[in-house]
Amino acid sequence: MPHHVLVTMKIPDGGVEVLRRAGMAVDGSDRADPMPRDELLRRVAACDGLVCMLADRIDAAALDAAPRLKGIANFAVGIDNIDLAAATARGIPVTNTPGVLTDATAELAWALMLAAARRIVEGDRLVRRGAFTGWAPTLLRGMQVTGATLGIVGAGRIGTATGLRAGAFGMRVVYFNRRPSEPLDAAGARRVELDELLRAADVVSIHLPLTDETRHLIGARELALMKPTAILVNTGRGAIVDEAALVEALRAGRIAGAGLDVYEHEPALAPGLAELDNVVLLPHLGSATVATRDRMATMVAESLVAILDGRRPENLVNSTTFD
Ligand code: DGY
Repeated sequence: MPHHVLVTMKIPDGGVEVLRRAGMAVDGSDRADPMPRDELLRRVAACDGLVCMLADRIDAAALDAAPRLKGIANFAVGIDNIDLAAATARGIPVTNTPGVLTDATAELAWALMLAAARRIVEGDRLVRRGAFTGWAPTLLRGMQVTGATLGIVGAGRIGTATGLRAGAFGMRVVYFNRRPSEPLDAAGARRVELDELLRAADVVSIHLPLTDETRHLIGARELALMKPTAILVNTGRGAIVDEAALVEALRAGRIAGAGLDVYEHEPALAPGLAELDNVVLLPHLGSATVATRDRMATMVAESLVAILDGRRPENLVNSTTFD
């Protein structure tokens, strides 16, 4: 009997081909929207392997509904959607997709920084509504990032890659991270405490994973420490920022602007967020380049094939019998 793999949303074809070439029966991979919870619980019952998305909550209840499950490949580097302890307790290996999305996500952080600093989206809207009446010395003046200070909150792979790109703009870099980042240190960046970073930075860019420790790390108090001219960018996870406090800070002009790719209650937005002009909003596009998503698709498939063949997968994130 072939192994049965459930893919909860459409992924690039290469991933499905890897699974099929390995003799797996692939279920799913045809839907454009996240799989509703009740459908997920029903469909995991028959699967040996699961390719899940960051919107799929794989908790103890989902694992209990999947008595045949032998492996989970998360189509993301972030694994906050999976109860790792529950998976480990059931001996189920879990993998993610690190590395391949580092550059894509760092690029998107920069796109958001520049869009928010230079008021790109406001300008685009103004032109489209026919309000561009000619060049004007005071029209949509923004922040010059050249020579400004970039604060990187979380200097793992993506935070480090984002910080290293600051050299191109002659920016100073400060970063907050448990451990030193050698590449950032070599580039002249300074590791500091979070409060110091928030006070010093003109642009604060968040790159932490979401954990109990990082949830609401940036709240009203932290936003109040930022300069009134500063910009906050989040390409990590929405719940690291208290989104209601952010709306309030943006509305009151306590900070100048924000660029968000992720949301606390994704895909829902905090009340009032979408009405603000000083925030750029993207639909979680961090890793959304053709090359990266193709690579993520083959990576999750190769991980599941390895697990179902009884081999240790690359990018295993929990301790299981493979150790
Ligand atoms: C991830 O991989 O965690 C990203 O947020 C997905 O784009």
